[in-house]
Amino acid sequence: MASRKTPAKPEPKPLSGDKYSILLPTYNERENLPLIVWLLVKYFGESGLQYEVIVVDDGSPDGTQEVAKQLQRIYGEDTLLLRPREKKLGLGTAYIHGLKHATGNFIIIMDADLSHHPKFIPEFIEKQKEGNYDVVSGTRYRGNGGVYGWDLRRKLISRGANFLTQVLLRPGASDLTGSFRLYKREVLENLVQRCVSKGYVFQMEMVVRARQLNYTIGEVPISFVDRVYGESKLGGNEILSFVKGLITLFATT
Ligand code: GDD
Ligand code: MN
Repeated sequence: MASRKTPAKPEPKPLSGDKYSILLPTYNERENLPLIVWLLVKYFGESGLQYEVIVVDDGSPDGTQEVAKQLQRIYGEDTLLLRPREKKLGLGTAYIHGLKHATGNFIIIMDADLSHHPKFIPEFIEKQKEGNYDVVSGTRYRGNGGVYGWDLRRKLISRGANFLTQVLLRPGASDLTGSFRLYKREVLENLVQRCVSKGYVFQMEMVVRARQLNYTIGEVPISFVDRVYGESKLGGNEILSFVKGLITLFATT
């Protein structure tokens, strides 16, 4: 049994001047949004760090934005920012859109469907500080990292995409298609200006370009747990554009 004593309130850490903007792209995440936002507020609240959560919803038909507005009433407009777009314009451009509105000097991007657990964020922040890394990338393919709940098809797609990219582009990071990452703000700004892809391939292009520009990349093993609510938006089209993007990068870099 855990002790019944109320735990002493953690001493608020001195504010470092750093601020973390978390970008949450959403498309039909009505069920997931309340929990992910709650977890983020919990972790950042306990850390004493300055932060903001920016939801970029692409006109989800399931009413994600209504839920987001309710959450904003709970957590406040300075903590939860809503920066929606009219329609589904793709994951890559959703980050670019969110970044325009971010005020932090560090940007964290992650999925909103709980596949990326906010409990790893303190490790990202620690890792960044450890080597003053430009980018810290979550990796499912190193250390204790892993994938849970995917079927064989999905595992093969992910492994295949990573393998092909490793062979063709040698980017020097172990998880190229993952999208749980922390960037220095100016680094992300510079990278997105150079990226041409719009969909899921964006993640891979970002790491490849980061390497070309000699940015330093730290890695944190993460477990990726397949979503419980809703469905993945990764379809045949995204896979095709990944391959196209890979070939383009191979030919041009
Ligand atoms: N705003 C916006 N617009 N959000 C989107 C869009 C879009 O067009 N497409 C997807 N999203 C959001 C989803 O709502 C979710 O929060 C996140 O982006 C990831 O989408 P999923 O559909 O859940 O992706 P996944 O689980 O299949 O893929 C994950 O693994 C891939 C392979 O490692 C993601 O982490 C991908 O980024 C990753 O490439
Ligand atoms: Mn997902």
